[in-house]
Amino acid sequence: METLRVGFIGAGFIAKFEALAMTHIRGIELSAVYAKKGSEQLADFAKKNGLGECKVCSSVAELCNNCDAVAILAPNFVRVELAGEIVEAVKAGAPLKGLICEKPLGRTVKEAQELVRLAKETKLPTAYLENQIYMPAIKAQLEQLAPTQKAMGPMALARSAEEHAGPHEGWFWDPTQQGGGVLSDMGCHSIAVSWFVLNPVGKPPTFLKPVSVSAEVGLLKWGLPRWRKALLDNYGVDYTKTPAEDFATGMVTFENPENGQRVKAQFTNSWMYDKQGLRLMMDGLGPGYAFEINSLMSPLTVFIGDDAAEAVADAETALEKATATRGLLTVQPNEADLYGYVAEFVDARNAFLEGRDALLNWEYGLEITKLCQAAYMAAEKGQVVDLTAPGIDQELENYTSLIAQGKAQEQLNVK
Ligand SMILES: NC(=O)c1ccc[n+]([C@@H]2O[C@H](COP(=O)([O-])OP(=O)(O)OC[C@H]3O[C@@H](n4cnc5c(N)ncnc54)[C@H](O)[C@@H]3O)[C@@H](O)[C@H]2O)c1
Repeated sequence: METLRVGFIGAGFIAKFEALAMTHIRGIELSAVYAKKGSEQLADFAKKNGLGECKVCSSVAELCNNCDAVAILAPNFVRVELAGEIVEAVKAGAPLKGLICEKPLGRTVKEAQELVRLAKETKLPTAYLENQIYMPAIKAQLEQLAPTQKAMGPMALARSAEEHAGPHEGWFWDPTQQGGGVLSDMGCHSIAVSWFVLNPVGKPPTFLKPVSVSAEVGLLKWGLPRWRKALLDNYGVDYTKTPAEDFATGMVTFENPENGQRVKAQFTNSWMYDKQGLRLMMDGLGPGYAFEINSLMSPLTVFIGDDAAEAVADAETALEKATATRGLLTVQPNEADLYGYVAEFVDARNAFLEGRDALLNWEYGLEITKLCQAAYMAAEKGQVVDLTAPGIDQELENYTSLIAQGKAQEQLNVK
């Protein structure tokens, strides 16, 4: 069986998750890693888990010469710089077969366009990692409901939410580094997965045309004095000066280009979901049928009483972003599969070995960035953004939200 040797840029939270996902896949290796921190531990994991002799590299160029596909799994604020270094390595002869990038493709539309332009310079196939579209539950509902959709017509409303109690690293909280708050971080997932399920069965991911976006953002928990102090103490991020939203909700309206039918995607995201841990919720409603997913509904719960709580292992092994170590706890035994990390790498592997883009390429990532930024614009203006209006593409291209600029005290009502 042919093998794809993947090199990771970044060895943090998502790199560890993706490496775990790769242990479920045949014909794939983690052959190299380059990161500011964490490379040795990740390489050690790879070696111990049958992912190959992972080489720790000291530059992007060295990485590109020790793998078949590079995955950018580093923070949002170094994307463009890293992609530029990959292009240089390819021009200098690095024998790559494909480029992979985590969400969001860019912090602004301009950055995402630059990523697409850089990838085109290499002429290499691309994969944009939007894991929720690859969730086995999303795939299963599509397969199960395909005959119903064909008989009754496609879904008309999709709702999607991703929520947890807040990110694990300071740069996520800093809107000038991350590109915003929870809308930039997780709104991209929820918008993408709803768009995907609304497309009539058998159509490509960008079949439905986005026509308008409305949104609201709020700073509901982490702007309060006690929680602001916690952010400052734990991450050195000051929400009195550079606040970001911890709640976002909105609606994207799409139009079917073949028959003019309009359908809607409602998204909700928060960093103030103080419950068990990460929760993904999706539902879709068509005429006479529906589906519903809740990632906290696991066949496994464990109970840990107060007397036993001292002996608790790391709570995050039970659930991503777990917030509790005792009581009745939800455990997801295979989160890498549940969230779609396994299937997205299977797709990238197969696509690159066949010399083509994955289902979701970087151009697709650019479309998601546009929708996220349109949502920031809608929230900022307090208006519905009409994506069919003349000049809107240019306006979005030149747009950086007040939140991403670190100038949102008034918008987010920080006193
Ligand atoms: N799909 C998902 O569900 C999901 C989940 C978490 C994160 N992400 C995305 O993955 C990316 C990384 O997030 P994370 O949570 O792993 O972050 P992290 O902070 O945990 O890890 C970042 C890694 O990148 C390294 N790094 C930083 N700057 C670098 C540079 N200039 N060159 C090389 N390495 C560098 C760090 O040392 C670290 O190893 C982000 O873009 C984030 O949006 C996606």
